[in-house]
Amino acid sequence: MIHFQKKTQQFDLISENSQLSLGVLPSGHLATYYYGEKVGTVDLSYVVKEIKRASYMADTDCIKDFKLEQIPLAYPAYGNPDMRTPAVQLILADGTRITNLRYLDHRISEKQLIPGLPSCQHETAEMLTIRLVDQENKLRVSLLISVFPQHDVFTQNIQIENLGSTPITIDRCMSGSLDFLSDKYDLLTLGGAWGREAHQNRRRLVQGFQGVDSKRGASGHGQNPFIALLDQEVDENHGTIYSMNLVYSGNFLALADVDMHQNTRLQIGINPFEFSWKLDAKEIFHTPEVVMVEAQQGLNQLSARYHKFYTECLIPKNFAKKTRPILMNNWEATYFDFDKETILALAAEGKKLGMELFVLDDGWFGQRNDDTSSLGDWQPNVEKLGGTLEQLIATINQIGMAFGLWIKPEMVSPNSRLYQKHPDWIIRVTNQEPQQVRHQYVLDLSRKEVQDYLIATLTNLLTENNISYIKWDMNRNITDSGSSSLEREQQKELAHRYILGLYRVLDEITKRFPDVLLESCAGGGGRFDPGMLAYSPQIWTSDDTDAIERLEIQKGAALIYPQASMSCHVSAVPNHQVGRITTLKTRGMVAQQGNFGYEFNLLELSEKEKADIQQQITEYKTIRETMQFGEFRQLQVYDNRNEYAWLQQKNDQVIVSHVFVQAHGNTVPKRLKLSGVQPDRYYLSADDGKMISGRELMNIGLSLPVPTHDYFATRWCFTQVSDR
Ligand code: GLA
Repeated sequence: MIHFQKKTQQFDLISENSQLSLGVLPSGHLATYYYGEKVGTVDLSYVVKEIKRASYMADTDCIKDFKLEQIPLAYPAYGNPDMRTPAVQLILADGTRITNLRYLDHRISEKQLIPGLPSCQHETAEMLTIRLVDQENKLRVSLLISVFPQHDVFTQNIQIENLGSTPITIDRCMSGSLDFLSDKYDLLTLGGAWGREAHQNRRRLVQGFQGVDSKRGASGHGQNPFIALLDQEVDENHGTIYSMNLVYSGNFLALADVDMHQNTRLQIGINPFEFSWKLDAKEIFHTPEVVMVEAQQGLNQLSARYHKFYTECLIPKNFAKKTRPILMNNWEATYFDFDKETILALAAEGKKLGMELFVLDDGWFGQRNDDTSSLGDWQPNVEKLGGTLEQLIATINQIGMAFGLWIKPEMVSPNSRLYQKHPDWIIRVTNQEPQQVRHQYVLDLSRKEVQDYLIATLTNLLTENNISYIKWDMNRNITDSGSSSLEREQQKELAHRYILGLYRVLDEITKRFPDVLLESCAGGGGRFDPGMLAYSPQIWTSDDTDAIERLEIQKGAALIYPQASMSCHVSAVPNHQVGRITTLKTRGMVAQQGNFGYEFNLLELSEKEKADIQQQITEYKTIRETMQFGEFRQLQVYDNRNEYAWLQQKNDQVIVSHVFVQAHGNTVPKRLKLSGVQPDRYYLSADDGKMISGRELMNIGLSLPVPTHDYFATRWCFTQVSDR
């Protein structure tokens, strides 16, 4: 619901449990009165009026003690005279930089799409557009704030409109900016590196700047476009959280800035570093959308809200709630070294064991037998495939497996025919030798002809072949940020134009082929963000397939992204990334936390190992819906450096998983208490046939076995029944 109190000039956006209230001050400035748990449509202007005044700050509009710098502002502009970090900073037509934004009008409507950018949509969403204007500088800035009533989510994107007749330059335009009147929070971000993505990073706020950003041309392995403030006592099931997640896949900034009086400004948006945008007369610039989620009951409530929201409002409808196939990928099985016989044998073995989709990874095209060549030449290597791709797919389909294919459309190898023909299509700086990463360049997706070429190439591939899944990889970042197709003063637009180009290609392809399951990948989780989720229902979470490394990675990713969006595979032991040996049970249980598949050489397995895998798959099929689409909760453990536990539940099924990282001598494990089950219901254990109440499971918990080796995994399956 969106409510406007005319008398007090207050806007209340209210969902089932959350509320965002804004107010127009007598000066015309737009303030954020409140964000948090629903409090109702009461006059909240006192929140601003009662702020005690501090010294050494400018008075606004020459009104004594009207100090903008102390007021929680909804979209602070540079100068005038809030000296904190602005949300928007412009170079105006005359070269000056002070923007003076005041309320003009507002409108309530249905939620709108954002031209050229992905956004969240739901039939129940309502949108409030508040227009701010700078009369002198002929400029309009609009806040488009939406409420998703059943999801307890607010989203916001910004429009900047040049009403004058001379171009202006945008130097900074954050998508979201929220001011909090305290700094007594922890800051939570997700970060790491290639192979170690999405680790939760929690620390105390301090005065000044803190946060994460990407300058890599992609959201990146080392950071996620997510930031949250946590009450310091927050744990899995308790405490207040305020968070922002950006629907964007490129350079971003997520920032918390604590001022001199212990107030915190939280912002997220396109990274102003190496960004600027020339906005011609009468043109409009649209920022990406920020998703804002608050929670009162800790991290699990936050996750539940994000998961439901992304499943129902962002991920492509055709797949959002559709059971995902158990796939077999040949990458870690063969790398580049395969032929038709091996591929068919792997597919046949996979089918026998119960797998459903065979994915042919890198090396099927051009002359690609290692990573030095052929990206861009997306013609199948008929010699290696022992015939056409069509024939190979037909045989795999006859075996009873669907077929999926790896492709890396944004990259090109120097020795490809594509590069020989269009050397000017890569991102590079004129007169400088372009950098290579893994022997490849990045195509300049800011150029329309490059986008059109990709759309045509992918359309041909998907039209001519019976492909039901695509793994869309991208594994190098943009180092030589320059484009010959952009004017001198527009060079800083490249990184954003690249992402707009990528979205255009993805949008076109997913519209033309809505039934092809797209899995995006960027050397693992180098672009695991809501922007990509808008097109690809699942994302390869990390190139690190070790079950133990994955515990921390998946715990972080699952904090915001639904488990069905995280692709997780069982791979060989010793693990190819870290050399660790874990049991098939542990690998299976960890991979089943997300979207399940296998990625190792089935042809090298013993009959016993094959039988174990077959059984693992048979069991998984009985719980797959719950594992992929059930409510997901991280469980509290006694020693969170050595134990991980999570629960998935749907309808009457409850699946609990627990892993000890190391086994310690003379261990007496503490009990594992569940959360989120029904206190008054009874649960029948599949293991011992005993019945136990939800109240007991939550208050007394399960007895953990003594770990007899490292990486010891345990699973419990329960069926909920109404009576004992
Ligand atoms: C990337 C992906 C891997 C695999 C290789 C193939 O690194 O993340 O899963 O597809 O490329 O080159």
